[in-house]
Amino acid sequence: MPRFIFLIVMVGSFAGPFFASKSNGKELAEKVLYKASGCVACHRITQDHIGPSMLAVSQKYANVPNGASMVLDSLMNGAKGKWGNNVMPPQSHVSDQNLQLLTNWALAIKDSPNLKSWLKEELVTQESNTVLSTDQPLEAKYSPPENRIGTVVQTLDQPVVYRTYLPGASSRAIAVGLPGGISYAFDAKLCKLLYFWEGGFLDFEKSWTGHGGWYSKLMGTKIFTAPPHSPLRLGNSEDIRKVKFNGYRMIHGQPEFLYRIDQLDVRHQITFQPEEYIIVQKFFLSKTENKIFFIGGENRQNLSSEDGEWRGNALLIDPVRQEAFTIFTQLIR
Ligand code: HEC
Repeated sequence: MPRFIFLIVMVGSFAGPFFASKSNGKELAEKVLYKASGCVACHRITQDHIGPSMLAVSQKYANVPNGASMVLDSLMNGAKGKWGNNVMPPQSHVSDQNLQLLTNWALAIKDSPNLKSWLKEELVTQESNTVLSTDQPLEAKYSPPENRIGTVVQTLDQPVVYRTYLPGASSRAIAVGLPGGISYAFDAKLCKLLYFWEGGFLDFEKSWTGHGGWYSKLMGTKIFTAPPHSPLRLGNSEDIRKVKFNGYRMIHGQPEFLYRIDQLDVRHQITFQPEEYIIVQKFFLSKTENKIFFIGGENRQNLSSEDGEWRGNALLIDPVRQEAFTIFTQLIR
């Protein structure tokens, strides 16, 4: 890792003259270093996140006599209590030299010519990453959908989405908190729903501080666990094909997961009906000549759909419904 970062800095300084101005090129190279050093897990340049925005850091320290050495000390030894309740672990995986570069870069941000474009860029990603439905205007004021007490995050009246480490998930899990204390986990490697839980959302203590592992803790109890593989099958109900995750986007405030199974594009929406206690999974598939099956597994007796016919534990989707079908899972209270 340190070697990789060194390389980026070298490329940055050689690339400098090719940019419109040398200092601009250098600044962009340091932004790359900030990403490569893992700072983006907790920081944004213009928006407060788990840690303060780099802009706020710059406004606080740039004109303070010992500002740079205070910040450098925080990076080398960790920091807590200066900005809030979250902790920054020592950034000891980054060389001292690069921490110095990052410090200088952060303190100069308030006067950066790139500031405007970063502001715009981050407002957009913040919206598409978390909460606001895609049909809301970009100028709309960003209001956090969640309530945070220390490292515990509770969902308020809109879904919240976090990429994090979760128990029982692959290394790529996405946690979604729905209003009303219901949450679910989606596995972005296996491309499937993992489980639902009820109670609170997540405690990020371990994943934000790094103390005692990286897993976020589920606040509440599991009310549903899905079978182990992607439930969709092509051609016959036995074959498990390769899946590839392509990200997610927000549709009317709800995440929609995008992935491919072989040549098939899948859009997958997961919602919950609290009164009926029903999980609703909607699938939108690209056109295919293949038969499509949905595997019910052990949950078969709680599943229903009007879009296919059961063959044992496998639902054979009606060919005319293949491009859009819905599966309901009735949970027992
Ligand atoms: C695990 C989360 C996390 C990571 C990773 C992280 N930070 Fe922080 N950072 C924080 C938190 C939380 C604070 C506020 C700590 C406090 O209140 O004292 C903070 C504070 C800071 C500050 C202000 C320090 C001060 O003295 O006021 C700077 C600058 C900073 N981080 C830069 C970075 C850079 C650069 C990286 C990457 C090398 C990084 N951080 C990685 C969470 C993180």
